[in-house]
Amino acid sequence: PVLVVDFGAQYAQLIARRVREAHVYSELVPHSMPVDEILAKDPQAIILSGGPASVFEPGAPGIDRKIFDAGVPVLGICYGFQVMAHELGGDVDKAALGEYGKTPAVITDAEGILEGSPADQNTWMSHGVAVNTAPEGFKVLAHTAGAPVAAMADESRKLYGVQWHPEVKHTPLGQNLIENFLHHCAGLPNNWDSAGIIDEQVRKIREQVGDAEVICGLSGGVDSAVAAALVHKAIGDQLTCVFVDHGLLRKGEVEQVKHDFVAATGIRLITVDAVDDFLTALKGVSEPERKRKIIGEKFIRTFEKAQRQVLEEAGARGKEVKFLVQGTLYPDVVESGGGDGAANIKSHHNVGGLPKDLKFQLIEPLRTLFKDEVRAIGTELGLPDEIVWRQPFPGPGLGIRIIGEITKDRLDLLREADAIAREELTKAGLDRDIWQCPVVLLADVHSVGVQGDERTYGSPIVLRPVSSEDAMTADWSRLPYDVLASISTRITNECRQINRVVLDCTSKPPATIEWE
Ligand code: XMP
Repeated sequence: PVLVVDFGAQYAQLIARRVREAHVYSELVPHSMPVDEILAKDPQAIILSGGPASVFEPGAPGIDRKIFDAGVPVLGICYGFQVMAHELGGDVDKAALGEYGKTPAVITDAEGILEGSPADQNTWMSHGVAVNTAPEGFKVLAHTAGAPVAAMADESRKLYGVQWHPEVKHTPLGQNLIENFLHHCAGLPNNWDSAGIIDEQVRKIREQVGDAEVICGLSGGVDSAVAAALVHKAIGDQLTCVFVDHGLLRKGEVEQVKHDFVAATGIRLITVDAVDDFLTALKGVSEPERKRKIIGEKFIRTFEKAQRQVLEEAGARGKEVKFLVQGTLYPDVVESGGGDGAANIKSHHNVGGLPKDLKFQLIEPLRTLFKDEVRAIGTELGLPDEIVWRQPFPGPGLGIRIIGEITKDRLDLLREADAIAREELTKAGLDRDIWQCPVVLLADVHSVGVQGDERTYGSPIVLRPVSSEDAMTADWSRLPYDVLASISTRITNECRQINRVVLDCTSKPPATIEWE
């Protein structure tokens, strides 16, 4: 793999994605991982990410200089570039002129990582520290007003550095730089694409499963559907899908999933009604992490209970179900604190919410993938657009969209409001423009309203439309006012207990997409 060493950057994930967009496989590792361990992963190239620290301050994260002597091509970006310059003896200091945002760069040598670059180009910068002189052996390739060394290269050692951020779209030629590094400087071939991922996963799944029986927990979302289709391609009839109705689903969801999924894939599907079971377990719980853990555990217990029925349907009585397929994605792993060195932002039900005594072995063919890669695979596997382009809906469903205790009445209310919002967004043709639009019930908040000439004291509904590339970062969608107006009017008219509809206009970070 290409390893992206994360120095605490906002953009480390983005770098990993851009590498994959260049058709090369990448993974993130934390800067705290010892260099020997990093090298033991046999990286074909290494990218050092940006980060918030200043290299010359005490306690600033650095990296053992062994990494530069290992014969592996290294690209340093922003802070990673400064670390490289600093470690190898360059002069790094507070910049005379900090540069934030769009910054013109002068390219003096369009070679190596800057092969094919015009002499002047716009870049996107964010730095208050600059490299004044490059270390010995390096050639300066570019400068800006605030960065005497804005790009540098030592071809003989295959070491490269750049002050600006090639991974953000605001650097128009950024992807060229990354591709130059990967393909020209490091000599890596294009070998990461949907067909390749499918072949590799199919081979791995067959190897892992043998002739055992497998179940897949289907949520109705894109990820579990694609995971199921992938596993089905690998082992055919040994797979049974289980769809759990936990009572936290949206309106019409059960029927839709049954219909769309079975029609598209022909995979054997059983549905389990576990509404009472889930709602009883969630009674009185309002703390989000507890909700997530309970839901994660309940899913597993439900799959265990469904085992006998699965084996019967599969004509495999007497055997046991050995494997459980989950559509876990890379961001779920990273946000649940499962990525190397990442903080636990929230326990995604299928990662941090799993019980310790899990009896199944997991098959998670999408565990290293981002959503857009999963969608590409789904299409390659022949799944229809209605499945592949569904908006993400989290496994814990409406359970994490009721702020406060979950009750049947509150669920019914939210289901109604959510259905209205979805209907209006679809009617306005906005489905593909927004990544997803959680509709959230602030169940414990009350405000005064006047409905039908009477005072009401109801709860607000929050609309949370966002745009995103991979759910790791997101911006709130600027929906047309008239669409917001019709959603608001309909919700307050049709859901009597709701007397206020509010819009969440926060990006991620600082907020997450879901409210819990
Ligand atoms: P946040 O709220 O962390 O969400 O910004 C990022 C994306 O992940 C979805 N999400 C989940 N998906 N199980 C899932 O399968 C979960 O427990 C879970 N929590 C959040 C969320 O809807 C968004 O698309």
